[in-house]
Amino acid sequence: MIAISSSARKRVCAFALAAIDWARLGWGRPLGAVLAIGGVLSGCSDTPHGAASGEMTPIVDLNPTPDVVEVDLVASSSQQSYLPDGPADIWAYRDGFVAGSRAAVPGPLIEAKQGDSVIVHFRNELPESTTIHWHGVRVPNGADGTLATQAEIPPGGTFDYRFVAADAGTFWYHPHVRGDVQIERGLYGMLIVHGGPDAPVSVERSFVLDDVKLEATGKLSATTDPLDVMLGRQGNVLLVNGVSAPTYDVKAGARERWRFVNAANGRYFNLRLAGHRFLVIGWDGGVLPDPYEAETLLLAPGERYEVLVELSGAVGSVAPLETIYYDRGHEVPDPGPQDVLKLHFTGAATSPLPLPSSWGELAPLSVTADTPTQTMVLDEDEGAPGQDPMFFINGRSFPDVVPLEGVAGEVSVWSIRNKSPMDHPFHVHGMFFQVLDVDGVAPAHVGWKDTVNVPQKSTLRFAVRYGAAGEWMFHCHILEHAERGMMSSIRLSPMP
Ligand code: C2O
Ligand code: CU
Ligand code: CU
Repeated sequence: MIAISSSARKRVCAFALAAIDWARLGWGRPLGAVLAIGGVLSGCSDTPHGAASGEMTPIVDLNPTPDVVEVDLVASSSQQSYLPDGPADIWAYRDGFVAGSRAAVPGPLIEAKQGDSVIVHFRNELPESTTIHWHGVRVPNGADGTLATQAEIPPGGTFDYRFVAADAGTFWYHPHVRGDVQIERGLYGMLIVHGGPDAPVSVERSFVLDDVKLEATGKLSATTDPLDVMLGRQGNVLLVNGVSAPTYDVKAGARERWRFVNAANGRYFNLRLAGHRFLVIGWDGGVLPDPYEAETLLLAPGERYEVLVELSGAVGSVAPLETIYYDRGHEVPDPGPQDVLKLHFTGAATSPLPLPSSWGELAPLSVTADTPTQTMVLDEDEGAPGQDPMFFINGRSFPDVVPLEGVAGEVSVWSIRNKSPMDHPFHVHGMFFQVLDVDGVAPAHVGWKDTVNVPQKSTLRFAVRYGAAGEWMFHCHILEHAERGMMSSIRLSPMP
């Protein structure tokens, strides 16, 4: 396996971190030793910053134990220049362990191995309350970061999140308080859990996609118009890892693995790399049993995909990864293809090793006529002119909802009917599901999802294995919709 592994990084930093741990605990080491450690630490944490390079900065793992990832994460106000015109005032995450670290979009990259214990010491330096939700991770209910499971963390407050990274895959973290505002301002980051089947690749890259609505000054727009609410705010500048259209140096003939998260409030990314096909190997819940080729890759807000690409291009040439039109409803016009990022071919690679013959495992959830079914209707009310639209699940608008009931670990079918003339990406916390059909038609590919696009005027059914006991939110991941009512929860009682 040629893939760059997280364990390599853990080794690189291990000396510094083992040392720092006791320095932190104040076990009376001489000052000289502590300063020496500082020098080593900068070697492993001073990687080029996202804002400049389009790469994410890995967070420092404070814990030398191989199976524990322990980090300090801080949310704070900061500035970031998305355009040359001037900096935007952002809210973002930073590594609380690295003295003087600057909060940036996206937040530090957290990596773990499947089965690791993850401990996040979080501190809120924002001027308002927040929480952190671990999107897609099957955390214990108390670590889910919603207001069903914890109180808001006030300015100056702290909270420890603890969970086991049970599933390998691509996840992300973000607040669950005023998500439309807080995530839009820049509070999000990626969490990668390594493990499971692997493919020989020369480079692994991770891309968090977003868009921001900027004024000519470079500042984030302070206005939310009815269209922003109806579609979820779609910005005028696309971002990859916090950078507008970054360029990555690549080699012709190389096979690369790309992980994508769509962290945008409302934008759908429909990715295309001209002259190439993606081999889609993973969804929200990890590697698929049967990877498949695709010309385009549609990411609704909240979704994740992992693909392999075998790159071809003349040395010296530049090729854009574009997002192209997708009909998400409400007659949204086609702006034409837009560049998401650029690939700059700097040379040639040796041909890649063969792909593995077996991939992920997936036992289909067994569904019979007796499997209990929950029926849900998604709807919207455009409101009178000048008024904000409202959004509903089963005619109710959060927080005026009645939580569903279920039993932890049971299998249920959810039938989601989208009555509205636009798509809604439907997300469930704390568990994964398998799509059964859309308007009665079985999907072409199978895999675990926690966020799925429910197309306009259609009914999508999935089978879900309920997670651990507790109260779990489910909602549309267009954040303006969730915050204006399209959100509810299910209460799971412990297995009898
Ligand atoms: Cu990213 Cu409640 O979710
Ligand atoms: Cu979530
Ligand atoms: Cu929606």
